[in-house]
Amino acid sequence: MGIVFDLFGVHIAFVSIILILFLAWLFWPRKFKKVRKMLIRSAGVVLLVGVLLAAKTYWPYSFDKNYLKTSVSEEIASTPLKNLADSIDFHIGVAIGPASDFKTISREFNSVVGENDFKPGKLLVDAENWKFDFSKADKLVAFAEANNMRMRGHTLIWGKFPGMTYPAAWGKMISESSDKKKTMEDIMSRYIQEVLSHFKGKVPTWDVVNEPMHGTNLYSSIFTETLGEEYLDLAFKMARKADPEISLFLNEQINDYDGPSGKAFLELLKRLIDRKVPIDGVGLQCHHLKNTHDIDALKRYMRSIAELGLKVEITELDVRLLLFKDSDDPYAAQGKQFEEITKLCIDEPACNGLTLWGLTDGANWMDAVAPFKWKSPNAPNIYDEEMNRKPAYLGIWNALKNAQ
Ligand code: XIL
Repeated sequence: MGIVFDLFGVHIAFVSIILILFLAWLFWPRKFKKVRKMLIRSAGVVLLVGVLLAAKTYWPYSFDKNYLKTSVSEEIASTPLKNLADSIDFHIGVAIGPASDFKTISREFNSVVGENDFKPGKLLVDAENWKFDFSKADKLVAFAEANNMRMRGHTLIWGKFPGMTYPAAWGKMISESSDKKKTMEDIMSRYIQEVLSHFKGKVPTWDVVNEPMHGTNLYSSIFTETLGEEYLDLAFKMARKADPEISLFLNEQINDYDGPSGKAFLELLKRLIDRKVPIDGVGLQCHHLKNTHDIDALKRYMRSIAELGLKVEITELDVRLLLFKDSDDPYAAQGKQFEEITKLCIDEPACNGLTLWGLTDGANWMDAVAPFKWKSPNAPNIYDEEMNRKPAYLGIWNALKNAQ
């Protein structure tokens, strides 16, 4: 519910106010003509303001692709990102979704992650009978192996949307149980054990828990309702026990590194470390959805994580083009953001990986998710719809090249 308000709070507020004013007008005693007139006029004004704001927000912008005016140099065309990354021992990765271009991915990247195929709601197809379908995930593992790529596992435990981030049947199993805590522990333990033993030796890094936070608090889910914060401790301990060889990450989207939610996440990390939870690293997703991320703040944030003795990676980078609508050249500004983030990641000794959440603007997840799909252009990736290299590609390339 919290997420719905985060995304649609303003919309809900407008519709509610109009509805309340309209209903008041409808049911107000007819003899109070003045009051009724005021009510219906107010509803009209709020409606008008709402329509104007919506037009401004959802205006379908389109920006010049100035980058098409110059062709990329021979050196850039013949030196894939992964060649540059390999020579500085850095993982440059991408999420593989349903419409992925495997040829380009194998040429450019030395690390991959499944955009959806490793999520619990996808792997555990029949949760009541503990039936898994690993076939899609296994294909990605085979592709990664054939191309000598590192594979990130995303994700073991994620309590946000029943049916997608975890099997809906788990909620039912918990609500019907007389010992909810024990049932949740058993579910987590069996799930983590089965998945990690299936991928043993093939997926060296896993997001053990995804997006535990909601603002400054823990995201409330079947995991927190049954186990409280301890669900994190248990997930990491279970993962370590199931496969002591793999790196265990906590993955989170932070929008304000210096602000309250950034601080709350650092506090959570400190508590986990104090409790000797076996966590190896932190994944900072770095989706640029509502705001661009402040480079210096992100740099300091990575340092604070590193100072806790943890590894850190950028795990889901994408940058909405629309965020640069006031810039002279939005594509170039977007490219600069990719370059600076890649550079800060390379410069941070505790960071040795950056993963992009998608390859081309032609297939990007934001175009499928409300309200972002209504605010175009998202175009958050490094290749455009025609597979031209965007300034975003060149930004990453330059950062890697300058680090040689
Ligand atoms: C997204 C996928 O890209 C979409 O295809 C899917 O419909 C929803 O999930 N944070 C995460 C990712 O950790 O798993 C999400 O991926 C994007 C936000």
